[in-house]
Amino acid sequence: MAELDQLETELVGRIGAAADEPALEAIRVAALGKKGSVSGLLKTLGGMTPDERKVMGPAINGLKVRVGEAIQSRKAVLQEEALEQRLATEKVDVTLPVREAAVEAGRIHPVSQTMDELTAIFADMGFSIAEGPHIEDDFHNFTALNIPADHPAREEMDTFYFPRKEDGSRMLLRTHTSPVQIRTMLESEPPIRIIAPGRVYRCDYDQTHTPMFHQVEALVIDEETHLGHLKWVLEEFCKAFFEIDDVKMRFRASHFPFTEPSMEVDINYSRVGGELRIGEGDEWLEILGCGVVHPAVLRACNLDPARYQGFAFGMGIDRIAMLKYGIPDLRAFFNADLRWLKHYGFLPLDVPSLAGGLTR
Ligand code: DAH
Repeated sequence: MAELDQLETELVGRIGAAADEPALEAIRVAALGKKGSVSGLLKTLGGMTPDERKVMGPAINGLKVRVGEAIQSRKAVLQEEALEQRLATEKVDVTLPVREAAVEAGRIHPVSQTMDELTAIFADMGFSIAEGPHIEDDFHNFTALNIPADHPAREEMDTFYFPRKEDGSRMLLRTHTSPVQIRTMLESEPPIRIIAPGRVYRCDYDQTHTPMFHQVEALVIDEETHLGHLKWVLEEFCKAFFEIDDVKMRFRASHFPFTEPSMEVDINYSRVGGELRIGEGDEWLEILGCGVVHPAVLRACNLDPARYQGFAFGMGIDRIAMLKYGIPDLRAFFNADLRWLKHYGFLPLDVPSLAGGLTR
């Protein structure tokens, strides 16, 4: 009997001192579990005489019940304490400013923004969007564009090539968006009016060149398309894109194998302090190449040059984004610097449209 009292005192003491629920559970297992001290005592009943059992049975069972109750009430206290502590530490200060939701904290990259803007403008003029693969073959990137195997333009393009295949041919990363012209003419019938924005690749890197950059190609093919249409489209585009009525453009005679005649177009701007201003001053930035589609290109796409003609241009998207948004260094576009993106980026829910405004 004295032994039972001693065990009870000890257990009740340890239960009262249990610091948390896991500690309490360990005590419960050690006392009331299958191999616990109290359970062990209950097993001894079987070996007792009926008289002994009459006394010890109720005594041990009573111990078991009281230890169980002590554990339950300690558990309730511990749970109460844990809740109090959580309430104290998880206090919310409702006077703090609301944190931006993820959709508001994100930013649209100026290149994506510019693509969305020019898509809205050309869609309004009746152009649709065409796409082509970034991994191209020689035919679409060069040959069909009137750039034969020995043409110097192949060298100038600083092409990234893949390893040669067994037949000696090799794939390449498209050096311009012009192969989309070929794919479009091969797949559809005139009248054709498409733009093809996307990534292009050249092995080149300095302050104004990165190995991957962006162009938008345009192609119009019909029976009575001429340079006047090209000039109008470009002027309307520039006015809408730069959001000013007077954009000064310079058309310079140039040469591309896939157009005849060919021109390059410069935009007039000035640098005032760190700011770029379009349509004033005496600096010019080349933004695109264009011209009338060469008869050899039409023939390569099974179109009869006697019936169809058209114009095309290829514009540097990164360049016009730099001009419009006054971004001085091209390389920053591709550095993935969040601080830069926070500064130059756009709110994701402000989708550019001509009706709603390109930039707000
Ligand atoms: N593909 C040329 C380049 O990357 C740009 C270009 C010039 C595209 C004249 C055209 C064009 O469609 O007509 O330099």
